[in-house]
Amino acid sequence: MSPKSGATFEAAKRRRPWYYSRPRLLITCIFFGALWIWFNIGACEVLIPADSFDYLNDESLKDILNTTLGFQNIFVLNLPFRTDRRDAMSLSAAISNIKLEFVEGVTGASINEKAYPPPDENRKLLPGIRGSWRTHMNALQRVVEQNLTTAFILEDDVDWDIRVRQNLQRFALASHFLSSKHDTTSLKNKVEYRPNTETEETAYNIIDTNNLANTLPSLPLSSVLHTHKHITTPYGDPSTWDILWLGHCGAGMPRPPFHPNPTSPSTILLTLLNDATVPLPKHLKAHPFQATPDALATTFPPSTRIYHHATGGQLCTVAYAVSQRGARRLLHQFGTKGWNGIFDAELGRWCAGANPDMGGDGGGKGGARERERVCLTSQPPIFAHHHPQLGESDIGGLGGGYARKYETKYLRYSVRMNLEGLVQGQGEKGLVDQWPDEEGPVE
Ligand SMILES: *[C@@H]1O[C@H](CO)[C@@H](O)[C@H](O)[C@H]1NC(C)=O
Ligand SMILES: *[C@@H]1O[C@H](CO)[C@@H](O)[C@H](O)[C@H]1NC(C)=O
Repeated sequence: MSPKSGATFEAAKRRRPWYYSRPRLLITCIFFGALWIWFNIGACEVLIPADSFDYLNDESLKDILNTTLGFQNIFVLNLPFRTDRRDAMSLSAAISNIKLEFVEGVTGASINEKAYPPPDENRKLLPGIRGSWRTHMNALQRVVEQNLTTAFILEDDVDWDIRVRQNLQRFALASHFLSSKHDTTSLKNKVEYRPNTETEETAYNIIDTNNLANTLPSLPLSSVLHTHKHITTPYGDPSTWDILWLGHCGAGMPRPPFHPNPTSPSTILLTLLNDATVPLPKHLKAHPFQATPDALATTFPPSTRIYHHATGGQLCTVAYAVSQRGARRLLHQFGTKGWNGIFDAELGRWCAGANPDMGGDGGGKGGARERERVCLTSQPPIFAHHHPQLGESDIGGLGGGYARKYETKYLRYSVRMNLEGLVQGQGEKGLVDQWPDEEGPVE
């Protein structure tokens, strides 16, 4: 079959197309073959692009690009008389190609006395606190009634970075690992230990502050990416996690477990270095009254995002996802069994393994560590409260004040802060980075 060399030469002279030349065809085949092998071996690990505007190319993360951010449904809690918030919410979501379903919020005054679970004191809490509790219960009730595998619950003053899907894809890589029970002994040599800068004063005192971690074990997110391949649901198997607490106003570092194993997914922090969506350390504050920045700012290098179990106390339920398992557990605890405080603090304590203070034994600040509850979070948060112009939150600001500043903490290319430009159809270039790396106002 093989032509004589003369024939080949002649063929070339007659300028026949290149693929008629068999040696070249062979080389081409080998080249593409090698490329195919290289890509398929490379595909065992997902590559995290350095540019925070780039999406991740992985089949299991594809659904995060859909209109419900990879959850089965998105619910927004809205008091019907806060039409201003619904307007802004609908607009922001439309701009981000996000599909919402509104859940009507209720006020404390409209709740029947008989509808409260124990203890009796919770009927005397401020009406705003009772209304907020009931509104969250209504959303959880819907998740349970509709038998949703996952749902994302938002408060109506929530904000996000225009790179929200990119942020969520990276979070999903972390949640795959953190919600698993992977044997991680092979990663032992990659663990870094940093001194925890939390103190009894700065730590979240909604739970005991006497068991703060001295050192925080962490692994780069990129070192655990080979472990999630067989899972097809975007955030990991929803039967293995309860809550993905994506929007908050501050989170404590994970507390040491009873049987410390530094590489256990429930102990370890995952780090994403040089994340361009993270503001400089000095800006990492949950609200304007906070004296020193979050422990994240002083524990990890600038521009680091961390992912971990929410066992260190956490506040503000501005955005959280629930699995069906999580929704049932929360509705059982706070809808029927009992609660006694502001819902976000109660949830922070629940995630840390503590039970509501019901006045008797077994509850309270310490609380026995309950059967494993899996709440995962990111610092800084991916969703945060937006403080609008002239606006005053219905929820009292932490630290006693009311947030009156026009801003959104933690978010750089905030959708709310760029609403005007986005509505006018301005491209990415015209948008404002709220917390630029060059000198900005320091608080
Ligand atoms: C988005 O993806 C999730 C997860 O696969 C799925 O449950 C949901 O139905 C999808 N939403 C839409 C609108 O396609
Ligand atoms: C709820 O969903 C699960 C799977 O997601 C299914 O097995 C179960 O039958 C459903 N239950 C109801 C009442 O629809």
